[in-house]
Amino acid sequence: MGNILSEIKEAGEYIKKKIGKTPQIAVVLGSGLGALVNEIEEPLVLDYGDIPGFPVTTVEGHDGKLIFGKIGDKYILAMKGRFHYYEGYDVSKVVFAIRVFKYMGINNLIVTNAAGGINKDFNPGDLMIIKDHISFFAPSALRGANIDEFGVRFPDMSKAYNPELIQLCKDAALKEGINVREGVYIFAKGPMYETPAEIRAMSILGADAVGMSTVPEVTVANHAGMNILGISCITNMAAGILDEPLSHEGVMEVAKIAEKNFVALVKRVVTD
Ligand code: 6GU
Repeated sequence: MGNILSEIKEAGEYIKKKIGKTPQIAVVLGSGLGALVNEIEEPLVLDYGDIPGFPVTTVEGHDGKLIFGKIGDKYILAMKGRFHYYEGYDVSKVVFAIRVFKYMGINNLIVTNAAGGINKDFNPGDLMIIKDHISFFAPSALRGANIDEFGVRFPDMSKAYNPELIQLCKDAALKEGINVREGVYIFAKGPMYETPAEIRAMSILGADAVGMSTVPEVTVANHAGMNILGISCITNMAAGILDEPLSHEGVMEVAKIAEKNFVALVKRVVTD
């Protein structure tokens, strides 16, 4: 573990030196939700490829940059392009950036994603505040030796999604006139979308939306005591809910449509 920790430190020191300030909030931008970076004033852009130890992304629609700057009176660090389990990374690489953020002194994390709607009341284009998650289908991001510098071996997950931030986000949505849902996100390993039978099972388990990201990041951020807000953009209904085939292009298309609301909401959350 000494190794991972020194890689985290090296990346953190590199970024700190480049940006010169400690951001108050880190934001992980999901597929098709990158437009938030256009709201960042005086942006300073770092390519993942230039940061020591940082993995590089392989998914279309994710582009591999850290963007630092101001939104309102807050300094934020946005991550455009994240790492997914299905890409084949060791799970420690999937969550590497989150630990670097924590190492840098960032204690607030907003994680966002595109997700499939399981709850039949949802519609494509809806935004859903994540109130909790289910992760039964992949190894934990905390598997292996514990990194004691970040947190305990057996972390409590009962308030992983910060109740105050959930309330703040609901209030922000109200002020912006955006209708937000609230629900449980279930992690799927991917890269294939689920079968209709899997979605029925997930529905019985209590999930409202399904996606291939976020849970690893939230697991380590919670381990490290960060305050977490999760927002899903429901880009499509999951398999079997409607009689329609799913495609990454379709997901990206709806994310683009919902992006305006998404940007307005996150901007409000960040500045409130
Ligand atoms: Cl239906 N499933 C998963 N795993 N990820 C998604 C999705 C569905 N829709 C958007 N992302």
